[in-house]
Amino acid sequence: MTSTEKTERPSELFIDLHVKYIQSLDTKKDDLEYWLTEHLRLSGFGGHIGHDPHLLYTHYAVLILQIEDSLDAVNVEKIVEYVASRQDHQTGAFTGDEWGEIDSRFSYSAISCLSLLKRLDAIDVKKATEFIMLCKNFDGGLGSTSGAESHAAQIFCCVGALAIVNSLHLVDADLLGWWLCERQLKNGGLNGRPEKLEDVCYSWWVLSALSILGRVHWINKEKLTDFILTAQDLETGGMADRPSDMVDVFHTLFGLTGLSLLGYPGLKLVDPVYCLPKYVVQRVGLAERYHAKYGGFT
Ligand code: FPP
Ligand code: ZN
Repeated sequence: MTSTEKTERPSELFIDLHVKYIQSLDTKKDDLEYWLTEHLRLSGFGGHIGHDPHLLYTHYAVLILQIEDSLDAVNVEKIVEYVASRQDHQTGAFTGDEWGEIDSRFSYSAISCLSLLKRLDAIDVKKATEFIMLCKNFDGGLGSTSGAESHAAQIFCCVGALAIVNSLHLVDADLLGWWLCERQLKNGGLNGRPEKLEDVCYSWWVLSALSILGRVHWINKEKLTDFILTAQDLETGGMADRPSDMVDVFHTLFGLTGLSLLGYPGLKLVDPVYCLPKYVVQRVGLAERYHAKYGGFT
């Protein structure tokens, strides 16, 4: 399709445009925006060279190294030591950095990261699982910590972590699946909590959890696909949180991974637990453990 044929409400995915958008992100060093978001970039393993280390950035670094098949470029034992040091031995929870905040997203990052390094033995998995289960609420959802409101992104973190440690039997898949599929609004988009607006990133947080639970078919796939496609910016490439907003790399990633989970043609399959291309998870040798057990991606 040529640019003149591109409509206000795109009905197909412009892959080349998104590739150009992502390539352009590293070339804008004269823009103030580049330096204001410096802390979000990633080096070894803080958000940027000279920034303090953080569990999330350490996890992202390991994801990238696994995509590039380059773990031999780093000291794996030091990474394992750092990640393990973030676990609180009494509660099993993880802190993101030295400031001490605990959050189920840090539990996911630690568990995903160590599993990709084949070093889950470095932490107390039983205690880590106990903390995640403390985040479970009466509505079937899970939050950031004990007593915190159910939130779709935290649910992804908790369900992903439980899948890795073979403890998915601890969640009520029907109740949780119901909570997740109720996130779809009339316009096809998904929100992260009741009464919130739709947002493209929840195409990933909600769908990945449904996918792990084998319940993607509980939402209307066509309407969600259309919603994600309308969030593309046909001038700059990239995707926004919702149609007509500014694009960013976060929503571009989760729009594309969401479309991949929906089986959109032309995209590589994404693994719903690790948020990595499926072929990478297979190469690392981690796919079969839970695929066989929890029944695939429909
Ligand atoms: C939404 O936050 C997102 C989360 C709470 C979870 C983030 C998860 C990670 C950082 C773990 C790593 C994840 C992957 C896929 C590798 P928000 O503050 O934007 O939520 P809001 O929509 O309620 O504002
Ligand atoms: Zn978002």
